[in-house]
Amino acid sequence: MEVQTATDPAKLTETEEKHIPIIEIEGTEVVVKIGKKAHPMEEDHFIEWIELYQNSHLLSRKNLRPGRKPETLFHLRGEEGSLYAIAFCNKHGAWQSEEIF
Ligand SMILES: [Fe+2]
Repeated sequence: MEVQTATDPAKLTETEEKHIPIIEIEGTEVVVKIGKKAHPMEEDHFIEWIELYQNSHLLSRKNLRPGRKPETLFHLRGEEGSLYAIAFCNKHGAWQSEEIF
């Protein structure tokens, strides 16, 4: 599976703004939103799933449905470390956020 990333994180294209995951950390809870401009969640075009990786290990994959918000909540395992998220759009494929620490 080819995973796309932002060409220039400081200047996202229109497509990137709707697909690059936004990771918000609060304590051990992490909300992942797709994306900076909310991705459509229509029957024929929606985010199918979001995965969150902590220290390169998959924490969880959450499946989404049309009509829901393009976001989901994850719970971190205690230790600290780097995180990245991958979102899968049924039309535009997989998109990964920048890794953050
Ligand atoms: Fe899309």
